[in-house]
Amino acid sequence: MNAVPETRRPTAHAEGDAVLVADQLAKHYDVKRGMFGHGTVKALNGVSFALTRGRTLAVVGESGCGKSTLARQLTMIEAPTSGRLLIDGQDVAGADHAKIAALRRRVQMVFQNPFASLNPRKTVEQTLGEPLAINTPLTSTERAERIAHMMRTVGLRPEHAKRYPHMFSGGQRQRVAIARAMILDPQIVVADEPVSALDVSIQAQILNLFMDLQEEFKTSYVFISHNLAVVEHIADDVMVMYFGGVAELGDNRTIFERPRHPYTRALMSATPSIFEADRRIRIKLQGEMPSPLNPPSGCTFHQRCPYAIDRCRQEEPKLREVDGRQVSCHRAEEVGDADA
Ligand SMILES: Nc1ncnc2c1ncn2[C@@H]1O[C@H](COP(=O)(O)OP(=O)(O)OP(=O)(O)O)[C@@H](O)[C@H]1O
Ligand SMILES: [Mg+2]
Repeated sequence: MNAVPETRRPTAHAEGDAVLVADQLAKHYDVKRGMFGHGTVKALNGVSFALTRGRTLAVVGESGCGKSTLARQLTMIEAPTSGRLLIDGQDVAGADHAKIAALRRRVQMVFQNPFASLNPRKTVEQTLGEPLAINTPLTSTERAERIAHMMRTVGLRPEHAKRYPHMFSGGQRQRVAIARAMILDPQIVVADEPVSALDVSIQAQILNLFMDLQEEFKTSYVFISHNLAVVEHIADDVMVMYFGGVAELGDNRTIFERPRHPYTRALMSATPSIFEADRRIRIKLQGEMPSPLNPPSGCTFHQRCPYAIDRCRQEEPKLREVDGRQVSCHRAEEVGDADA
């Protein structure tokens, strides 16, 4: 049935030179449920992937699918409910305080809104200088040199080091936030929608900056975005999330050329710029994600899926390899081929 021959496993799963491995990561939140007591939101429900050095894994999916929750586990802002997180081969769960502190330095985060994530009362020099003062033996002169160099690297003028965040444009502020993330030369940067708050005209510049920095420093990125055009531009590997789980995971070309999860196809249909030529396989995304307090039986996507059959309503699909990618759909083999 597979028209495309089985290709090698996506690099997202080659754990050999992985800088970060997520193994069935889950995060559940207890929440008050109106007058009826408590409920559990399974914001993240068993997500596994491996991130290799110098590569970008883009994480994409609708609002509420768990992208930021994943980011908070990867950056050790929160501890997962279950599952394992390995950074550079080291299990975070087994690490003591000193070790965690060391691991945290290797994983930095860039947020969507630099106005909120930067301290308004600190100059660029202070924002970039503090991590250096705390974590390195550099003298103040050496720190100033490092700051000036990093400012140039991210496209800022070193003579603006004494400026405060509000004295910069939105794009420049995000450059400051990126400089702060990069100043300790981290192995991994987790960026949560880092361009979505910026003017469209600025977005490409910031994306290109991310790519230039990666080339120079061989940083690995987990790049969260709901914008598939952005993802296609920046990703080596793509992980499509739905309702706290992985719908599909594979390398950029595999996913974009022949998505095999109906949800991936629906997302792509909603992005005309990249899927225009293939209108006959348009799938309209109907309805909304189910309530996390009331998860559906079987496949979490079945209520919105044009391919759903009885099995999908009853049996939860496991993530499995089909046609060179990981996909959690009972009908993945047919999905890619039926409309081609
Ligand atoms: N601290 C929390 N307590 C309870 N529920 C939470 C908490 N954080 C997130 N959630 C829930 O977990 C689910 C995933 O949320 P998350 O913020 O990770 O989604 P997201 O994919 O980042 O969405 P967006 O694209 O809107 O940023 C949502 O249903 C959300 O309401
Ligand atoms: Mg989010």
